[in-house]
Amino acid sequence: MHKDLENLWLPYTQMKGLNSILKAQKTHSSKIFLDNGKSLIDGISSWWTACHGYNNKHIRKKIISQLNLMPHVMFGGLVHDQGVLLSKRLIKIFNNKLEKVFFTDSGSVSVEVALKIAVQYWLNKGKEKKNKFIFFKNGYHGDTSGTMSICDPEEGMHKLFKNYLRKNYMLSIPESERDKNKFLNFINRYNDKVAGVIIEPLVQSAGGMKFHSPSTLEFIYKAIKKKKVLLIYDEIATGFFRTGSMFAFQQTNSCPDILCIGKALTGGTLSLAATISTKKVFAAFLSNKKNKELMHGPTYMANPLACAAANASLDLFEKVNYEKKIKIIEKILHKELEKFRKLKFVKQVRTKGAIGVIEFFYLSEKNILWLRNEFIKKNIWVRPLKNIIYFMPPFIINKTELYHLLESTYQILSKWKKK
Ligand SMILES: Cc1ncc(COP(=O)(O)O)c(C=O)c1O
Repeated sequence: MHKDLENLWLPYTQMKGLNSILKAQKTHSSKIFLDNGKSLIDGISSWWTACHGYNNKHIRKKIISQLNLMPHVMFGGLVHDQGVLLSKRLIKIFNNKLEKVFFTDSGSVSVEVALKIAVQYWLNKGKEKKNKFIFFKNGYHGDTSGTMSICDPEEGMHKLFKNYLRKNYMLSIPESERDKNKFLNFINRYNDKVAGVIIEPLVQSAGGMKFHSPSTLEFIYKAIKKKKVLLIYDEIATGFFRTGSMFAFQQTNSCPDILCIGKALTGGTLSLAATISTKKVFAAFLSNKKNKELMHGPTYMANPLACAAANASLDLFEKVNYEKKIKIIEKILHKELEKFRKLKFVKQVRTKGAIGVIEFFYLSEKNILWLRNEFIKKNIWVRPLKNIIYFMPPFIINKTELYHLLESTYQILSKWKKK
């Protein structure tokens, strides 16, 4: 085993026979520099976080000044300026329709908190049986136990754990008339058991980069509005302009009761997430009685460094016209991905905002390993997922880099065809 790996356990990786590993030494703008002298154009923004590119000067400056003042302080019984400011700025984005921000330290935990808020909301209202969730096929919401129980068991990466997890209800995204009727019937039939419905708005990410329309989301919103079921949007992957608007749900006439955000919140610098609720949800936790308050509190919640990074990232979103930047990326992705359609092993291509997807009929483990090697040879950082290759570059990627990313992928796939 490679000496760097002697004491490491990597995510979603078979460690047996893993004799080599790439080592990142530094990052800058759209690039990751390796210790072997190579530099890679990042096509996936470090798991969709580095939206402003790496080592952004403004974010660095704000983190450093916060570091000098106070790197961390507990958020129980105390608050701090960066957390207070961030909560107010986030709420402004949602025109005060979502009002109460609970900070967490990772996306999965923000979803766990959303589930707990929904369950306790109904408990506080005396509805003890309303503790199940409806989630959707191809959905992915995290790696912790609660979140695994609302991931598609086949496509959501956790099928091994099916006997360990709580049972919730998986339905197809209601796009067809048949699935719409199924959804309506289900909500009516199991209303006394369902606490909430959870969905990734417009783009289901790790479950296969599947898209659905704004009208589908509006259908779900309208269908459950009067049904005593909470609506949870998981915008951990789609938030912060990835789909073209600040948040994906802002392309629709809908609004969740609870929203989860994370990933690009700190511009890809530090781990921070948040669960944001409406006043109506929050009100159910206000009481003179015992045990009505929200029963959750991660040690590093609202870490001041991470909040400073998030505030700096919001400064950039206010200053830079990201909508325009993303339109340019979308146009290039859309045009360039068209030619991949002609490759006979490509099933479909699709784009939305700064997301481009090439879906194959099938990719074997061997295919994936081969592709990964070829990408490195071409100096690009792209990670096939299941049967897709996807691009989610930093928004500051320049045109030359973006064309290089797409052109190199095309060359690799053309070579594959000839193999
Ligand atoms: C939609 C969605 N929800 C939740 C998560 C989990 O976030 P984290 O990896 O920060 O725990 C992810 C991560 O990919 C995600 O894409």
